Amino acid sequence: MTADELVFFVNGKKVVEKNADPETTLLAYLRRKLGLSGTKLGCGEGGCGACTVMFSKYDRLQNKIVHFPANACLAPICSLHHVAVTTVEGIGSTRTRLHPVQVFVEVLTAFIHSSPKISEHPYDSLFELCQERIAKSHGSQCGFCTPGIVMSMYTLLRNQPEPTMEEIEDALQGNLCRCTGYRPILQGFRTFARDGGCCGGKGNDPNCCMNQKKDHTVTLSPSLFNPEEFMPLDPTQEPIFPPELLRLKDAPQKQLHFEGERVTWIQASTLKELLDLKAQHPEATLVVGNMEIGIEMKFKNKLFPLIVCPAWIPELNSVEHGEEGISFGASCPLSCVEKTLLDAVAQLPTHKTEVFRGVLEQLRWFSGKQLKSVASIGGNVITASPISDLNPVFMASGAKLTMVSRGTRRTIRMDHTFFPGYRKTLLGPEEILLAIEIPYSREGEFFSSFKQSSGREDYVAKVTSGMRVLFKPGTTQIEELVLCYGGMADRTISALKTTRKQLSKFWNEELLQDVCAGLAEELQLAPDAPGGMIEFRRTLTLSFFFKFYLTVLQKLGKVDSEDKCGKLDPTFASATLLFQKDPPTNVQLFQEVPKGQSEEDMVGRPLPHLGASMQACGEAMYCDDIPRYQNELSLRLVTSTRAHAKIKSIDTSEAQKVPGFVCFLSADDVSGSNKTGFFNDETVFANDEVTCVGHIIGAVVTDTPEHAQRAAQAVKITYEDLPAIITIEDAIKHNSFYGSELKIEKGDLQKGFAEADNIVSGEFYIGGQEHFYLETHCAIAVPKGEAGEMELFVSTQNTTKTQAFVAKVLGVPANRILIRVKRLGGGFGGKEIRSTLVSTAVAVGAYKTGCPVRCMLDRDEDMLITGGRHPFLARYKVGFMKTGRIVALEVDHYSNAGNTLDLSEAIMQQTLLHMDNGYKIPNIRGTGWLCKTNLPSNTAFRGFGRPQGMLIAEHWMSEIAVTCGLPAEEVRRKNMYKEGDLTHFNQKLEGFTLTRCWDECLASSQYHARKSEIDKFNKENCWKKRGLCIVPTKFGVSFTVHFLNQAGALIHVYTDGSVLLTHGGTEMGQGLHTKMVQVASRALKIPTSKIYISETSTNTVPNTSPTAASVSTDLNGQAVYEACQTILKRLEPFKRKNPSGSWEDWVIAAYQDAVSLSATGFYKAPDVGYSFETNSGNPFNYFSYGVACSEVEIDCLTGDHKNLRTDIVMDVGSSLNPAIDIGQVEGAFVQGLGLFTLEELQYSPEGSLYTRGPSTYKIPTFDSIPIEFRVSLLRDSPNKKAIYASKAVGEPPLFLAASVFFAIKDAIRAARAQHKDYDMKELFRLDSPATQEKIRNACVDKFTTLCVTGVPENCKAWSLRV
Ligand SMILES: Cc1cc2nc3c(=O)[nH]c(=O)nc-3n(C[C@H](O)[C@H](O)[C@H](O)COP(=O)(O)OP(=O)(O)OC[C@H]3O[C@@H](n4cnc5c(N)ncnc54)[C@H](O)[C@@H]3O)c2cc1C
Ligand code: FES
Ligand code: FES
Repeated sequence: MTADELVFFVNGKKVVEKNADPETTLLAYLRRKLGLSGTKLGCGEGGCGACTVMFSKYDRLQNKIVHFPANACLAPICSLHHVAVTTVEGIGSTRTRLHPVQVFVEVLTAFIHSSPKISEHPYDSLFELCQERIAKSHGSQCGFCTPGIVMSMYTLLRNQPEPTMEEIEDALQGNLCRCTGYRPILQGFRTFARDGGCCGGKGNDPNCCMNQKKDHTVTLSPSLFNPEEFMPLDPTQEPIFPPELLRLKDAPQKQLHFEGERVTWIQASTLKELLDLKAQHPEATLVVGNMEIGIEMKFKNKLFPLIVCPAWIPELNSVEHGEEGISFGASCPLSCVEKTLLDAVAQLPTHKTEVFRGVLEQLRWFSGKQLKSVASIGGNVITASPISDLNPVFMASGAKLTMVSRGTRRTIRMDHTFFPGYRKTLLGPEEILLAIEIPYSREGEFFSSFKQSSGREDYVAKVTSGMRVLFKPGTTQIEELVLCYGGMADRTISALKTTRKQLSKFWNEELLQDVCAGLAEELQLAPDAPGGMIEFRRTLTLSFFFKFYLTVLQKLGKVDSEDKCGKLDPTFASATLLFQKDPPTNVQLFQEVPKGQSEEDMVGRPLPHLGASMQACGEAMYCDDIPRYQNELSLRLVTSTRAHAKIKSIDTSEAQKVPGFVCFLSADDVSGSNKTGFFNDETVFANDEVTCVGHIIGAVVTDTPEHAQRAAQAVKITYEDLPAIITIEDAIKHNSFYGSELKIEKGDLQKGFAEADNIVSGEFYIGGQEHFYLETHCAIAVPKGEAGEMELFVSTQNTTKTQAFVAKVLGVPANRILIRVKRLGGGFGGKEIRSTLVSTAVAVGAYKTGCPVRCMLDRDEDMLITGGRHPFLARYKVGFMKTGRIVALEVDHYSNAGNTLDLSEAIMQQTLLHMDNGYKIPNIRGTGWLCKTNLPSNTAFRGFGRPQGMLIAEHWMSEIAVTCGLPAEEVRRKNMYKEGDLTHFNQKLEGFTLTRCWDECLASSQYHARKSEIDKFNKENCWKKRGLCIVPTKFGVSFTVHFLNQAGALIHVYTDGSVLLTHGGTEMGQGLHTKMVQVASRALKIPTSKIYISETSTNTVPNTSPTAASVSTDLNGQAVYEACQTILKRLEPFKRKNPSGSWEDWVIAAYQDAVSLSATGFYKAPDVGYSFETNSGNPFNYFSYGVACSEVEIDCLTGDHKNLRTDIVMDVGSSLNPAIDIGQVEGAFVQGLGLFTLEELQYSPEGSLYTRGPSTYKIPTFDSIPIEFRVSLLRDSPNKKAIYASKAVGEPPLFLAASVFFAIKDAIRAARAQHKDYDMKELFRLDSPATQEKIRNACVDKFTTLCVTGVPENCKAWSLRV
């Protein structure tokens, strides 16, 4: 059979593909074949939304054009016949409408000064507004997530030009951002909302952002942007659906056939065709949304040689309202199911829609719109996932399934027999699922559904459930009770043993006790069951039933006392509430520039990130967006599957058979030194031993990334296992450390403890964290063919080390290696050193082949290989007086450094230097050990060891308060340093603003009043508790390695007056380039529009320090300033000669006088240098300070928590750019929120990371941020130690998220106080992160005690705490 042509449209242009390969995704096609690189690859598994595009097609059943968002990474191109695809490039561009840079900056400048020019700017498409609003509301930092977010919003507006705030939040549910903290994105898009848009201060709402009271002593800017300046929305300007596709709307559809390298795709157009195909090829796989099959192909290396797509078949897409329920064709997308059920709930009597509401509740938390728009209801059923959200609901409700094959048709009710085993159903090989009917509920029937996953918007559930009860008419006596669960076995199950016993019983406390005891008995999990969290999952099954019990009681309402029905205790009522989040509100306050500051002087103004517009249009270039070279090759790493082993053999014979195979690289191919790493203790490719899972053994080089993946998977390695050390405890037991311990000691510890009224000691653990920059590691090496020259484009924070390592591995001098960095899609420390893993490998590949070689890690590889934040274990002893004053502290810190030293020592030094947080401790000893383990090397991560040290400090501080019975905030304040105090490392605190931040935060958060309200709430609610906490942070600013506190800059002034600026720092979203342009603009007294930064490179500024430690603005800013001074000095004579001349006049005059218009600048931070041996000298140039107060609400039954409100007061000196600084404060805070409450890396006992993508590793989402988020920059606090009186801001605010952690602990304490009968100690351990599991398990009650699960000796749990 000859293959058909695939015809689809992209941004209005027709694409005809004659060789459509079913294995090609739309994302790969857009980026590589069509050269549209605006759509990004963030995860490849449908979990991040970076690849969001809009699909439009003519829907024959609805008889209209429909638009919906989709993830291009999972959409096979073959599924797109006659679909119109819109990508970010299709909706707006800076190229055609704005003159690059100048106009952009002019527009922004106009915007800042509220000039009317802004409304004249030449946008003509309403959908550019999404891009405009995200850019100008400071919603784009690194920008890698931005095109996807723009497209989600764009699609919403196509369908709903006046959305509600809830619809906006829903539309963004499938998108992740790691930089911004989400607030500015929501705030920008909120201006579209009909219920949340800004009235521009014209309404009477005193809380409107525009009506905030102005401070009388300083001018506070009420908003970082002015929403009145945005272009109004005009829904008439929709891009046209391709007329050619519209003309085809009535044309008959015919079967299509596409043939790829390994896979055939048949698009069936009728049911008969489909059934015939299934009869002929029972082994054929059906694919509708490809959400399941796509993942299996990409991540499980599965091959499906014959795919049949039934998505067009009318019978499989129909929706029928029948006598007993609503029937959905199996290919109906979940969005169609959701819409239909929502309509039914609105129209039908309540008693008929109990089940529908159960389904809707599950769909509410079902990943994002991108998924729901394409994933089918039938696909969910037939996938038979043990954690499916819908199957427990269908099973509990007895949904009817119609299955057909050629000549047969049967309809069955889904019950406990439908899933006979793991991922198995009763469907025969030739059968297909035709339809599923979801039943109406009856009078006296009640239904609830529950889902518990790591986060609300997380799609991998821990436990899911559907529960149904039917009472005998007019009574509360049970006629039917069905409780079905996912996540409790290898399939969806029904708790038959327990429920059968309840028939004819009444709905009361006795039944509750009996069911709970029954469930605890029936729903057991082996101690090593996959997924772990055994007690938590078992407890959830009871908690869910308890919620169901209460919900039914509530729905039953008043009951006749003779009916023996239980009564709803009013303090229990809030346990029945479904998770709801109020729309977010926020306030950002900063000090405006002093009156009289020149209009052109942008320092101190909220200038938007200079790359934001390009990022929002998908025009900003990241490493993998660089167009492919003609002879370019792709590299894929081959890594160890063992934690510690000898390599016995490497067999590449199968890999060589993969088409496009070029070569395999190993240690033998390294022409220079195979030794690499910060301490020369790593290998480019493992020699004969591997020391972690993910250790790079070799790499394959092929013609395409797809072939590279196949070839890498085909390389066979045999190992001889060696003993492995995985956890900190293992390392302590085996004395496996790097070097000897690090120590800081001051005062007389023995005397201190002797004096203390009280001593508390214990252990505290803080888990690691994955960087999860949206752009994974990427590098391209281009051999230049002369004298060993090679040019590399790398996503790195460290051009110098990248250059040095490549030079060493190739055996050439550094002057032959050029490293270029345009921008990074996020770094957070993860690209400070670990980026060299990829750059050295591609360099070897390019050297060997003589061709350009590219490698971009897939998300799962990136997470596996590149390490993250160090997990820490602390053993502490703290002595204090009855008053709460601390007198002695001893802490032993252990970090899990992994298999190489990397930056672990410097990180531990920072931990020790911050073990005091903001408190004066007269007698102290801190010790640090670096555990050498067989995990991938852990590395730098925003905060660099400080957050761990400070969290431990706040942990023992909270224990002091509890032990003394004093309010925590009082004890914290009492112990706080004062101006002029010496720290434990003997640095004098000067310009100590922490107490000011504290007092302001305490006042602005109305701490004391809210504390009383919380006490009241906690008394009135038994199963929901609130907590409040305020914490400080004191953050020392400098590199620990002293010589790194230097920077260089290079400035060229061209004869037209334009300035090209370069400095040593890389732009990774933090706004460094924007700030540097602001600095140069003030120094040179020229508008920012004349200054441009093109990239960071080793041939412009050499020997740079990494862009890290929050000091890049301080150091590079001063270097830029110095370079500008040189230029100014040279221009001085020409200015004097022509005082009324312009910048351009002086520049041209200097040029004509043969004066150099190029200058370097250099800076080194003075007076920084500290010795651990003598505990003397100053490790820091200065300190940044901040305070946060957070309030949370926990659900004691599920462990969920809501961040209700956070108030932050942060000292950033005189802000260079309040928009960027507030962006850093919020972004860091939200990343800290992830660290302390959500993100949990899970490792197998063999040291293999389970959590390798957004499906298993949960970073904060739009839903995670505080509902009320108030950030205020401390006013009148200039810092004389840094450029233009500013302060470092990138890392310091991260720790403030500890306020959420301790607020959670406060709430748990309230829950435990209520259940005193379980003999709980006042001091209890809550390790970080405070996940749902930990929260639930800590809220000890009658349900948890029923589910205590012993772990037999020698039983290996599924996962380990490393
Ligand atoms: C990012 C992401 C998030 C997710 N979130 C959730 C979530 O929150 N909750 C949840 O429960 N699941 C979730 N899933 C799983 C997924 O939603 C479901 O598996 C989905 O409904 C599958 O539909 P599909 O059309 O994409 O299936 P496909 O991948 O196209 O097919 C899935 C399976 O069903 C078979 N199949 C499809 N239609 C038929 C038919 N008519 N007859 C017989 N066999 C058929 C296919 O052969 C295949 O084996 C998620 C998946 C991803 C990738
Ligand atoms: S790349 Fe497609 S969702 Fe992440
Ligand atoms: S701006 Fe969202 S990931 Fe960087």
